[in-house]
Amino acid sequence: MKDFKFHSPTKLFFGKDQIKVLANQLKTLNARRVLLVYGKSSLKKMGLYDRIISIFKEKDIFFKELSGVKPNPSIESVREGAKICKENNIELVLAAGAGSVLDCSKAIAAAAKYEGDPWDFNIGKKRITSALPIATILTLSATGSESNAGAVITNEETKQKLPLHSEHCKPVFSILDPQNTFSVSPYQTAAGTVDIMSHVFEQYFSANDDAYISDRLCEGVLKTCVNYVKDAIKKGDDYESRANLMWASTIGLNNLLSCGKITDWATHLIEHELSAYYDLTHGAGLSIITLSWMRYVLDKDNYQKFCDLGKTLFDMDEQASYDKAKRFIDRLEKFFLEIGMPVKLSEVNITDEYFDDMCENIKMVFGTVGNFRKLYPDDVRRILVNSL
Ligand code: NZQ
Ligand code: ZN
Repeated sequence: MKDFKFHSPTKLFFGKDQIKVLANQLKTLNARRVLLVYGKSSLKKMGLYDRIISIFKEKDIFFKELSGVKPNPSIESVREGAKICKENNIELVLAAGAGSVLDCSKAIAAAAKYEGDPWDFNIGKKRITSALPIATILTLSATGSESNAGAVITNEETKQKLPLHSEHCKPVFSILDPQNTFSVSPYQTAAGTVDIMSHVFEQYFSANDDAYISDRLCEGVLKTCVNYVKDAIKKGDDYESRANLMWASTIGLNNLLSCGKITDWATHLIEHELSAYYDLTHGAGLSIITLSWMRYVLDKDNYQKFCDLGKTLFDMDEQASYDKAKRFIDRLEKFFLEIGMPVKLSEVNITDEYFDDMCENIKMVFGTVGNFRKLYPDDVRRILVNSL
């Protein structure tokens, strides 16, 4: 097992009506001037916006708003948010929404403490050395951004979607009320769940195989997703399934599952190329690339892990073999289709038009991707072509 440091400082308030802790938490942090960041329309439709604003007013908290943050959040929103923070001496950034809102808020919080252009953080020109405190109210189970250090930002001008990571960007507290996900559409519920599953696959398929405990935890989170996603799709206000998916989202990517492991992340880096070029839902892109990646990397020496998953997720109780591993990937494809996810790029109108540019980006920024199997730009191209 690889050495590791585990540090998860985010206070999590999980359960019904946890918005009740907001005022007190802001007081504890001495945050009297807040920037509220949210997306297009969901926050207002579900009534959460009004509740937050009434708390601000009741407690006499000065606030500014940045609304309209879109999926695959843009560096433009980050620049705008940072400007508001600087002009208004903002003391805390409160993100209320899904992963894109949370990621944008993290980048804003760092940019508020920096005089240069925030894109510098994503291209590695500058390291984040401080940030405003960030708090979140999660409304969609997917990214794990509610308790991790990452944020993924898109630069529409350069056609790049790049992550940033900093301990300074970990939320100080997150409010996780599964009821706030009741209104998530069946498509976004499925996409969010595939995202959770993909995070776990990225950690499960590792270059070392001696972190037994982490693998068993991974299997538990994956099994939870398979068990509950259909109920959440069928009945949006099913508390049990929403609650289990929300907790799966959080522990799916807060470093717990990767303890002791050399993780992969090739599927995500390939998907980020797609969503940099196209208006593509992250989880939908992952559904397609996960299957193509699995079929590409599976070989006669590594089939055991695929078979273990077949047994855990779909009760495929046969002797492990290369053929059984292939059948597991087919079964996973069937599952993705059952929950309404695409499994081919043609279904989301993506052609090979930008494949060369995407592979060039990967070559320039990362060189190779993945550790379960190291992939060169040519391998990435084949995975993309096989997904058409
Ligand atoms: O804009 P609004 O109106 O809020 O609508 C959003 C948006 O259209 C809607 N939505 C959110 N909560 C809702 C709701 N609709 C109804 N009811 C609610 N309660 O959902 C849509 C999608 O939102 P988005 O933020 O894009 O979804 P998600 O949480 O899947 O976030 C995806 C982004 O996170 C990044 C992805 O790359 C992508 O940019 N990721 C961030 C990670 C991290 N920080 O660790 C890791 C992930 O792998 C991922 O890369
Ligand atoms: Zn993801």
